[in-house]
Amino acid sequence: MGEPDGRTALVTGGSRGIGRAVAQRLAADGALVAVHYGGNEEAAEETVKSIAEAGGRAFAVRARFGERGALDELFDGLAAGLAEHGEDGLDVLVNNAGIHLVGSIGNLTEEEFDRAVTINVRTPVFVIQRALPLLRDGGRIVNVASAATRIGSPLQIGYTLSKAALTALAAPLANELGRRGITVNTVNPGVVLTDMTAGWTSAPEAMAELESITALGRIGRPEDIADVVGFLASPQGGWVTGQTVDASGGTYLGPIPPA
Ligand SMILES: NC(=O)c1ccc[n+]([C@@H]2O[C@H](COP(=O)([O-])OP(=O)(O)OC[C@H]3O[C@@H](n4cnc5c(N)ncnc54)[C@H](OP(=O)(O)O)[C@@H]3O)[C@@H](O)[C@H]2O)c1
Repeated sequence: MGEPDGRTALVTGGSRGIGRAVAQRLAADGALVAVHYGGNEEAAEETVKSIAEAGGRAFAVRARFGERGALDELFDGLAAGLAEHGEDGLDVLVNNAGIHLVGSIGNLTEEEFDRAVTINVRTPVFVIQRALPLLRDGGRIVNVASAATRIGSPLQIGYTLSKAALTALAAPLANELGRRGITVNTVNPGVVLTDMTAGWTSAPEAMAELESITALGRIGRPEDIADVVGFLASPQGGWVTGQTVDASGGTYLGPIPPA
């Protein structure tokens, strides 16, 4: 664990999966991390505990996105947690919380689609709006979308659309915030082993199929994505803005020659 570097970070959906690895990575790099969760307090506390045991600093913040008052709850909890540590500003915002939606155009329901848009697009937009007054010059915003936006999977149409909209946020915001040294980027993971994908990655055939169309020959781990977010959030990532980084190990790049 690095020495505290004076930075603060908010990771939405930091309780589990990719968000947990991102929270751990930012804390290891020296940031005080607000670990947001939606309902799984135990998982959030586990993340906080793992960071503390490694010598880092973190606290948990609850807010159930999609429910009335969620953003008030998030920013009240964030302000309280920061104040407890003698802080009042934010340096890194990672919009990671999201939900998956399986279904083709034929069976997509308006309710499900609205929910995906609410959690995957509307919430990050207004989290950013609420975070901006706290965000210090030189800050970082990283949105976690999906490589699904590049891969034409008919069975994920609602999810793909919601993540494509999220991806479109980076360029205009990068232009708006660039003069303050704030960067805004999108990270697009391919399939990563988390609770979200456990349903089908537990099938060996599905894993083998995915490995066979991935240049690096394996499925992603949360830490693979955390490394990319960690770089974009670091001082060394300061010259990259308005971009989308595919972090899929090269999934579906084209034909892979036989070994
Ligand atoms: N896993 C993949 O293969 C993959 C691939 C591409 C993109 N992504 C994207 O990466 C991000 C993280 O995915 P993951 O696989 O780590 O997901 P995950 O294991 O399902 O964890 C989801 C996280 O988001 C939080 N969350 C979900 N719904 C919420 C809500 N309504 N309000 C507040 N918090 C909520 C959860 O909080 P609780 O713990 O409290 O429930 C949890 O921390 C998502 O945006 C996902 O779309 C994932």
